[in-house]
Amino acid sequence: MILNKGNLLKKKNDVMELEEYSIKLLTKDRLSEVVELEHKVYEDLANKDILYVDSYDDMYQELVNGGKILGVLNSKDRLIAYRYISVPGSRDHNMGLDVGLPHEQLKKVIHLETTVVDPIYRGNGLQDLTLQIASKMVRKEGYRHLLCTVSPYNFYSLYNVMKNGLKIKSLKKKYANPEDENDGTWRFVLHSDLERTFKNPIDTVISKWANLELQKTLIDDGYIGYELSKETKQLNYMKFEDDTNEISA
Ligand SMILES: CC(C)(COP(=O)(O)OP(=O)(O)OC[C@H]1O[C@@H](n2cnc3c(N)ncnc32)[C@H](O)[C@@H]1OP(=O)(O)O)[C@@H](O)C(=O)NCCC(=O)NCCS
Repeated sequence: MILNKGNLLKKKNDVMELEEYSIKLLTKDRLSEVVELEHKVYEDLANKDILYVDSYDDMYQELVNGGKILGVLNSKDRLIAYRYISVPGSRDHNMGLDVGLPHEQLKKVIHLETTVVDPIYRGNGLQDLTLQIASKMVRKEGYRHLLCTVSPYNFYSLYNVMKNGLKIKSLKKKYANPEDENDGTWRFVLHSDLERTFKNPIDTVISKWANLELQKTLIDDGYIGYELSKETKQLNYMKFEDDTNEISA
């Protein structure tokens, strides 16, 4: 089933070409193409710390558990971008636990995992578009909370995710691996409650995007990262009167 289709611009030898694309849910038999694109994008990154590389086996298992991969295919049916989402359920890694969701809400959580776009197709808003499609799809299925991690050094991704209503709720080290003495890497944890709008802000503080120390202090003091400006690269942190975390089931 085609979830979306249209035209996009492809950068070829510094010339822009118009090309048709379609977005589909990928089946497990296309997982090796996903991993191939993921590795290609990873190899191309100047700062490898910003992308957590998912293995074939992990993604396969998550698809079995109800996860999905939205694939963006070009006119020749080649995978040029994807968005991978998973359903953590009652497992320990459910990020609802990082942001203090009540226990009964954990089953309504969707993890927005990796999104990658082939460099020659960047700038078409595919991260944004696939997030909008995924968000509508999971909402229809009865899920309520979108959660993801974003590296504080990944401006493009942070901007696209926050533009879609996800708010910064935590800043912590994730993906630690005690086996190789790796204590993890800094990540924002962002959350969107699809059934909630924020009301009655009582304070606002502006932070530079790169000032992690100030942001950590603000988060510890009950502020949430509310908006990111593309122009000034400043984050708007807000505190809300009614931010009680009391979410009814
Ligand atoms: C983050 C990412 C998915 C965004 O791709 P996208 O949806 O095509 O980005 P956008 O369409 O929002 O791009 C907006 C602008 O930023 C630019 N841009 C996007 N990603 C960029 C990058 N990694 N480096 C430099 N410029 C980038 C685009 O060219 C575009 O510029 P323009 O406004 O002058 O045209 C893509 O950069 C990527 O695959 N990065 C590596 C993997 C990653 O970090 N994934 C997110 C974490 S899971």
